[in-house]
Amino acid sequence: MAPNFALLSDEELASALAAAEAEVAELKSRGISLDMARGKPSPEQVALSRPMLDVVNSLSELADDGVDASNYGAPWGLPSARRLMAEIMGCAPERVVVAGSSSLNLQFDCLVHAWVRGVAGEAPWSRAERVVFLCPSPGYDRHFAMTAHFGIENVAVPMTPEGPDMDIVEELVRDPAVKGLWAVPKYQNPTGITFSDEVVRRIARLEPAAQDFRVFWDNAYAVHDLYDEGDELLEIFGAIEGERGRDLVYEFASTSKITFPGSGIAALAASPADLADLEETFAMERVCPDKLNMLRHSRYLPDLAAVKAHMAELAELMRPRFELVDEKLRKGLGSASGCTWTTPRGGYFVSFNGPVGSAKAIVRLCREVGVTLTGAGATWPYGEDPEDRNIRIAPTYPSLGELAQALEVFCACTRLVCLQLAAAERGI
Ligand SMILES: Cc1ncc(COP(=O)(O)O)c(C=O)c1O
Repeated sequence: MAPNFALLSDEELASALAAAEAEVAELKSRGISLDMARGKPSPEQVALSRPMLDVVNSLSELADDGVDASNYGAPWGLPSARRLMAEIMGCAPERVVVAGSSSLNLQFDCLVHAWVRGVAGEAPWSRAERVVFLCPSPGYDRHFAMTAHFGIENVAVPMTPEGPDMDIVEELVRDPAVKGLWAVPKYQNPTGITFSDEVVRRIARLEPAAQDFRVFWDNAYAVHDLYDEGDELLEIFGAIEGERGRDLVYEFASTSKITFPGSGIAALAASPADLADLEETFAMERVCPDKLNMLRHSRYLPDLAAVKAHMAELAELMRPRFELVDEKLRKGLGSASGCTWTTPRGGYFVSFNGPVGSAKAIVRLCREVGVTLTGAGATWPYGEDPEDRNIRIAPTYPSLGELAQALEVFCACTRLVCLQLAAAERGI
């Protein structure tokens, strides 16, 4: 475990620094090449969904509640797929559109709708002088990149252990330029935090000045528990109706991390009025979505119980990886080094905070040794972590052996950077 650097004498600090430099130099000489950058399921995880590929074949009945999956029709998706995604999100099937294989696509579609046509009869966002999205940070880099792509101004809102800082969100939505809030409410990417009931209720009660303000509620990890007892997330549409039933939220989910990333099914849920509004744009994009893939999914995973049984099998593979992260970081860094990290009970990531000014240096050093991490700063709008502290660890893809090696490199590089910072502070 790393010593408490503050308690070391100058001589002890200098010798700890020399030892850490030697350790990193030795690791560099090993020619390591490992990737802990993106949240991808491991090959064993995706292999568990292979039987789904046999569920629909040339002999299969292709009707689903009277809808022919082999032809045009059912633009909002097959009835069985809408029911499945509604169960995953915990809302009514009538609110759900199943389309395509990527929830990010659907988020992009909603932004296009707002940009080109406008939300619910309001002026298109493209005509506004300024459009702002609130970005709980650390958060998901692709969300922030998407709004930045439209020229939308991303404003960071700090994440608390309960979700986004709602005092700040409530204050900022009084500005009519603020049109949206990114939210990953369960096992947030990257902190693994699930929004508390109080935060969900405060989001449901928001009084934005902009009538066309929408929360982009990306429930990507709705069923991704690592343990039998998962976190419970208050259902957002129920919370809104309990308040005063407004058109406030676009919810998204997909089976990317349930079956096959990139080849799953994706869903959007919204209020009836918002669905009618979005139809204008969605109907321009496609006659109907890929219903054969929906049929494959809804036959393989007919209900929430089947999804949960499948997720429990995936969790068997993921849990040891998450536990290894915590064990290696505790052993390699301990609490004395000023580093902290999350220990999520689900989702795909661990969020690590080093001392102020350390993240870029740690990521750079790891890359030199041969371990690729998500870029430092990626978890903040415009890639700018104001304190340069946060690093997203994605433990799901490497094998346990590779992960152990990658974490040893990570700890060695972090120790060295922490010691360099401590030495610089003392002018050594
Ligand atoms: C919060 C979040 N949303 C969406 C996605 C991607 O979803 P999809 O594959 O459905 O586009 C990810 C993937 O890492 C994610 O973490």
